[in-house]
Amino acid sequence: MRARQLPGSVPVLENLYAMRTAPLATLALGLRECGDVARVAFPGHEGHILFHPEHVRALLVDHSRDVSKATPGFDALRLLLGNGLLTSEGDFWLRQRRIAQPAFHRTRIWALGARMVELTEPTAREWDESTRYKGTVDVARSMMHLTLRVVSDTMLGLDIDREAAHVGEAITFLLHELNERIVRPFLPPLSWPLPRNKRFTEARETVRSVIARAIRDKRANPTAPGGDFLRMLIEARDEESGEAMDDQQLLDEVATIFAAGHETTANLLAWTWAYLARAPVVRRALQRELDDVLGARAVTAEDYPKLPYTRMVLAEVLRLCPPAWFISRRVERTIELGRGITLPARSLAFVAPYITHRHPDFWDDPEGFDPERFSDERSKDRPTFAYFPFGGGPRKCIGDTFALVEATLVLATLARKFDLELPVGANPVPEPVITLRPRGGLHMLVKHRRT
Ligand code: HEM
Repeated sequence: MRARQLPGSVPVLENLYAMRTAPLATLALGLRECGDVARVAFPGHEGHILFHPEHVRALLVDHSRDVSKATPGFDALRLLLGNGLLTSEGDFWLRQRRIAQPAFHRTRIWALGARMVELTEPTAREWDESTRYKGTVDVARSMMHLTLRVVSDTMLGLDIDREAAHVGEAITFLLHELNERIVRPFLPPLSWPLPRNKRFTEARETVRSVIARAIRDKRANPTAPGGDFLRMLIEARDEESGEAMDDQQLLDEVATIFAAGHETTANLLAWTWAYLARAPVVRRALQRELDDVLGARAVTAEDYPKLPYTRMVLAEVLRLCPPAWFISRRVERTIELGRGITLPARSLAFVAPYITHRHPDFWDDPEGFDPERFSDERSKDRPTFAYFPFGGGPRKCIGDTFALVEATLVLATLARKFDLELPVGANPVPEPVITLRPRGGLHMLVKHRRT
């Protein structure tokens, strides 16, 4: 049996045109019209999109050794991140993952909690200020600065505040450009001396120079507080050769954590404010939990397990707006998925958290915002891979605990003080670039919480 082709194919660009202009709607139509597997064709590539949780598990876990990251999406990311943890492969990746893993252990992340709360204070002050002039705040931008500050300080020992706006803009521009390179395969290569390419290399240089400074500072002053992750990378030695990582590799690894470690969490937090504004009952339940557990004291990392409703709110936002909304692999060895579906060698395979998280066989009222669906009782019969915002298998996100602890502490700190409202008529829509951002930012009214 052959899977049905994703609807909306046009000559030359095949499915790429629809995936470029309306990716989320096209994927949703794919599930409706093709069922659990859709065939896709892009110029020079054939592939399948897998929507069923069992197929997601097959690709990411059971057949993780039969696939690679040699895909147009990861090739574009390599232009920014080089050969870091997200983009590298094979034994090299495994060695780097083993070096990085201890820095992401739960106990280490919890130890960063107090600092994460401290780093949220400048945002609370800015929001406090904004209540005076009664204008709107771009909450997407605000969350981007905050998560950039947190990852820079805790992982790299870097004070980014002066450059946050500049670096944030460079990253936004780079992500749009990388996305363009994925969806417009006929763009001239970066090496051609064109104004567009020049802007790209300049923006990349902005990011890289900040990272190079972090490395230089940590080398010069390894015992300065913060930046344990970077210190570990600098001190790591190869088991056989005894050699340290070379400068380029260090730069790639740090760029990866810098980019992957803030952009995704910022989007999660931004969408959380948007959903809470539209669901006052959920917002009140969240604030009730914060009042009951914390009283008047500041939140700490130890509160993380004591805030189940807050965590369910974040889980539900990650279901509806998974920042990594589409994940690609190249099939290196033919995979038999069962029920007659074969993924041939040298084809592409995709999974789409955005769609599987709404699959009607596994989710009631898929578009509804209902954090309680993550209660133990209601989750127990759901297949594991009906929900995979952090991916799965050996390439699962290394920063999942970091992201969830950070988002919980930030949300707890700010939601106790502020109510955010959407201006009348505002309807934020997701813009699927590399991650799922609110299109045009997220302009909201910040008010002191009414008690
Ligand atoms: C809500 C926040 C986040 C989401 C939704 C997210 C999502 C993901 C996903 C889906 C993957 C797997 C990609 C694939 O299979 O191809 C991944 C990988 C990765 N993430 Fe995250 N991430 C988040 C936060 C973070 C943070 C905070 C960090 C670091 C501080 C981080 C660092 C990484 C790295 C290094 C990888 C590559 C891991 C490997 O292949 O060994 N992420 N992330």
